[in-house]
Amino acid sequence: MKRLQKHSYLVLVLLVLVSSALIAHAQPPVAIYKLRNSRGVETQITNYGGIVVSLKVPDRNGKFADVVLGFKTLQDYLKKNDPYLGAIIGRYGNRIAKGRFTLNGVEYKLAVNNGENHLHGGIRGFDKVIWTGRQIRTKDGPAVVLTYLSKDGEEGYPGNLRVRVVYTLTNKNELKIDYSATTDKDTVLNLTHHSYFNLAGEGNGDILNHELKINADRFVPTDAGSIPTGELRKVSGTPFDFLTSTAIGARINQDEEQLKLGNGYDHTFVINGTAGRLRLAATARETSSGRVMEVWTTEPGMQLYTGNFLDGSLTGKSGKPYPRRSGFCLETQHYPDSPNQPSFPTTTLKKGATYRSTTIYRFAVQ
Ligand code: GAL
Repeated sequence: MKRLQKHSYLVLVLLVLVSSALIAHAQPPVAIYKLRNSRGVETQITNYGGIVVSLKVPDRNGKFADVVLGFKTLQDYLKKNDPYLGAIIGRYGNRIAKGRFTLNGVEYKLAVNNGENHLHGGIRGFDKVIWTGRQIRTKDGPAVVLTYLSKDGEEGYPGNLRVRVVYTLTNKNELKIDYSATTDKDTVLNLTHHSYFNLAGEGNGDILNHELKINADRFVPTDAGSIPTGELRKVSGTPFDFLTSTAIGARINQDEEQLKLGNGYDHTFVINGTAGRLRLAATARETSSGRVMEVWTTEPGMQLYTGNFLDGSLTGKSGKPYPRRSGFCLETQHYPDSPNQPSFPTTTLKKGATYRSTTIYRFAVQ
């Protein structure tokens, strides 16, 4: 009898231990949030990777189309070759050379997942984790609040980092993204958003006819591994001059060193004006639909990536393949590899400080 009691006691202790371990590691369930503003614009956002799965905006005749690339099922997003469609990118948007940097005299080694470099936060970046999500109403429109605790050492980064991302679909037809974060140890941070846009509608051909204006006098040239050389080069006289609205495809195949190295546009532009202040970074126009998208940001830079690595092997949510250059990304961020580039604006987030960043994708028609 005594033995039996002892036995049940042990089982009980084990059960308590196992369930507390499970609770400690419990992940929130994957959910999808449907937001609709007062003008009928709709977006679907999942807490898996903070992915914007769809975004339906009107053309000049009031006809809605989904202007972001995306997949039909969660399984599709879980596949290894998902090119970060619509996701939140962190801890570090774009590359850190050789996955190494030194902070406060300590060298940190990050996960290496892009040749010899670290890309988009590593093997399991913020695009691949399940965030805690909550849908709310704000005075500006419906919103989703996503939070995530990135533990000290995750993908090699120092500090327990608490991140908060709020997506608001405003009644002015804007998708507004407010990021904030704090850490308990000095660290580096560079968050961005990776939607691939096609203003003619996803799956509707390439984006080469989209006209683009970028408010940047300079861009960040890179080497063959897409790591900045350290130079900030003037755009004038180069195919990187988007100061006047120009079709994305007008010069993309020119025999120019940087375009060759990037397989097209895959470069950060230094946005004019004061970083930290919300200002217009870019305007994209698709003339057949009349859809226009403005990008406003507080970030110092914006990566123009023209979907050069899409190759038609992925099938999108409406059953259409996504060939090369069938979407373009405007990723507002700090410059790549900043932790190793002393002349670039710093990406260090100090213990006790709060990281804040805002980007707005504003939709209109012409
Ligand atoms: C972009 C990056 C590209 C490529 C792409 C994902 O942000 O600039 O080089 O890695 O993401 O396929």
